[in-house]
Amino acid sequence: MDLYDIIKNRNTVYSFSSKLVKEETIIKALDAARLAPAAGGIHEYEFVVVSEQPKKDEISKLCLTPNINSAPFIIIVMCDPSKLNAAFDAEDTRTFCIENASLAIENILLYAAEQGLGSAWIATVQQDLVKKLLNIPNKYVIRGIIPIGYPLDVHTGAAQTSIPALKEMTHVESFNNKAV
Ligand SMILES: Cc1cc2nc3c(=O)[nH]c(=O)nc-3n(C[C@H](O)[C@H](O)[C@H](O)COP(=O)(O)O)c2cc1C
Repeated sequence: MDLYDIIKNRNTVYSFSSKLVKEETIIKALDAARLAPAAGGIHEYEFVVVSEQPKKDEISKLCLTPNINSAPFIIIVMCDPSKLNAAFDAEDTRTFCIENASLAIENILLYAAEQGLGSAWIATVQQDLVKKLLNIPNKYVIRGIIPIGYPLDVHTGAAQTSIPALKEMTHVESFNNKAV
């Protein structure tokens, strides 16, 4: 599959089969995340890889997503805003740690899809409790909880048909000119 087809076919997956995922695949997914573009070249985000069942059960509860504990691996992606804030002081750079982590997460999702794996990006999470569970220092902000595994089912929540047509999103030369 070429990259466009991987992007088009990727879907959020919340339930996973018991089929094992090789550790090398997870390492490669993390490396794909490591290689994402980052503001100022400052890759301040870090990962915690979780495979122990009791921890996955707890994480699943803490992000109110019941079946993600079926994934063989859950990757936590977190950023350290203080590192970027020390490098950039303008107001509009305050969100760069979010952008950096988001690009890293997208690389994980796409690499997983390319490997025939399912994944999800879960951002709604009880930060403090997950940090406590995984001994993550307080200065970090969790940007994503990413279960990865072979899909059991694909969610049907936001079908791609509900995404606005490209011409609705695109302006040519000036905002007044919608693409036809
Ligand atoms: C920034 C971001 C945050 C998300 N947070 C959650 C979440 O907290 N819980 C959840 O169940 N899904 C979450 N999702 C998954 C989206 O709901 C899902 O991507 C969307 O329904 C589109 O489906 P698709 O990924 O299959 O295209 C999140 C996705 C993104 C990009």
